Amino acid sequence: MKYHIPVLLSEVITRFNPQPGNIYIDSTVGHGGHSQELLSKGAIVYGIDADKNNLTITTDRINNPNFHPILGNFKDIKKIWQKYINAPVDGILADLGLSNNQQSQEGRGFSFNDSQSLDMRLDPNTQETSAKDIINSYDETQLYLLFSKIAQEQFALPLAQKIITSRQQSTIKTGKQLADIIHEYYQSRHIRKAIDPATKIFMALRIETNNEFENLNIFLNDSQKIIKTNGIIAIISFHSSEDRIVKNFIKKNNFTTIRFLPTKDEIKTNHLSRSAVLRVYS
Ligand SMILES: C[S@@+](CC[C@H](N)C(=O)[O-])C[C@H]1O[C@@H](n2cnc3c(N)ncnc32)[C@H](O)[C@@H]1O
Repeated sequence: MKYHIPVLLSEVITRFNPQPGNIYIDSTVGHGGHSQELLSKGAIVYGIDADKNNLTITTDRINNPNFHPILGNFKDIKKIWQKYINAPVDGILADLGLSNNQQSQEGRGFSFNDSQSLDMRLDPNTQETSAKDIINSYDETQLYLLFSKIAQEQFALPLAQKIITSRQQSTIKTGKQLADIIHEYYQSRHIRKAIDPATKIFMALRIETNNEFENLNIFLNDSQKIIKTNGIIAIISFHSSEDRIVKNFIKKNNFTTIRFLPTKDEIKTNHLSRSAVLRVYS
């Protein structure tokens, strides 16, 4: 099994400075890269993930009585805390987005090459609307707003129109079909981009499917209710709008804060870290 490589690991751990018995919530536990490091210092970690598959991988990977895996969405952090912890915690981590295996796994719909699915739900058991539902039902204005505002796509309107024309012929059912439509548009206009133009559209669709901005806002507010005075919160984001939500929240509350970006060496060894921004505050 190829585990997700944790991003900005030493920066997170140095700032948390975990001591034996300290309690942390890793609200996006993924494959537990950050959690493992906290546990190795004797801390107690409650690891939340909305993705059942990732939680199973991590539960099998981490064999430590101080590790408590919890299936759930971090928007429910307060309820989860009440149920499992119910005492102020020393630190909270959120490493937003997806792990490598989720991105590439056939049948989840996150990948351009997925020829089976366009689902993108982190938890299909609790979420009703998939990315396939959105792409096949949003009207032109809704798609335009999604592509222009969240994806910051230059050709948001013609792409929305092309998608609507395509789906009138047949339902768009897979990541591959959607990526082909986007690629065809760019090729027909002879436009070349350094980064695959489907990247931003897929990310926007994933954000919409999983209510990511709304959930992040709830999570940031509720985290304040469960953290110790002077406890540390660390958020790693991969999208400028997501980072803006975190930055504005910190500013509004006048928290003491510090920002970290991955070093050149980290980006060299883990290309996926290139767009990460870590904000630590208390
Ligand atoms: C970037 S990965 C975390 C990687 C982790 N730090 C590690 O070292 O393995 C993000 C994880 O957060 C989960 N996730 C994303 N949004 C979530 C949410 N709202 N609630 C709970 N888990 C979420 C994803 O399923 C994924 O497993």
